[in-house]
Amino acid sequence: MTVAFVGGATGYTGRALVAALRTAGINTVAHVRPDSPRVVAWQERFEALGAAVDMTPWTCPAMTETLRRLQADLVFSLLGTTRGRARAARVAGGPDAGYEAVDYRLTATLYAACVGVTPPPRFIYLSSLGAREDTRNAYLRVRGRVEHILREGGLPFTIVRPSFITGSDRAEARPGERIAATLLDGVLALAGAVGLSRLRDRHRSITGAELAAGLVRVARDPTLAGCVVSAEQLR
Ligand SMILES: NC(=O)c1ccc[n+]([C@@H]2O[C@H](COP(=O)([O-])OP(=O)(O)OC[C@H]3O[C@@H](n4cnc5c(N)ncnc54)[C@H](OP(=O)(O)O)[C@@H]3O)[C@@H](O)[C@H]2O)c1
Repeated sequence: MTVAFVGGATGYTGRALVAALRTAGINTVAHVRPDSPRVVAWQERFEALGAAVDMTPWTCPAMTETLRRLQADLVFSLLGTTRGRARAARVAGGPDAGYEAVDYRLTATLYAACVGVTPPPRFIYLSSLGAREDTRNAYLRVRGRVEHILREGGLPFTIVRPSFITGSDRAEARPGERIAATLLDGVLALAGAVGLSRLRDRHRSITGAELAAGLVRVARDPTLAGCVVSAEQLR
């Protein structure tokens, strides 16, 4: 029986993914960071879906031990922060929570933890359209660096590169992201109308639920191991 471990389960996409995995009948373990102020609420939510909750601390040996115990076949990495969240953590005097600490180091830790597991799980990484190591955009650069680790490492992997992930069902208000996605989707609708449907489908925004359904399909398709999957393949 397939066992899926979801890092970043409490995020917009993560929550939808846990639900989609359970709907697909896949044994699912939702990771909740041990310092989360909402542990009880997450436990109730995920357990109601039939998923288990894990709160392993963010160290490589501890994560390896957990993934071995769970015999995880699929490990999803959906971790990420925003500039706003990083700033709020800094103001509150908390630990560094910028792109380097979260998007890069936590993802790299989860990947390194998988390397110690036999048989190796498939690592499914939610990257981003435009991820590149040689860009001046800090967000896309850390994603490019994570993708590099996956390509050079020995684990089976799939990289998924969506454009904006947004929807009216996102609990956290992200007005800038919503406006940018709406404008972009409008321009892309025009592009689609003049025959540029591939361009439209690659760049237009996707909801958490659509993306989650696509991630489950990706995970079930062994031919996508070692591949980069773009948004139009997810719909
Ligand atoms: N939003 C977009 O338009 C977009 C586009 C392309 C790619 N992506 C990427 O796709 C992934 C999922 O996106 P999303 O919008 O669904 O993410 P999200 O809602 O922002 O969720 C991010 C996840 O990362 C965890 N996280 C953040 N800071 C953390 C920290 N300091 N320590 C431990 N965990 C931490 C969160 O846990 P808590 O709930 O405990 O904070 C949450 O589970 C992210 O990697 C994102 O960068 C996003």
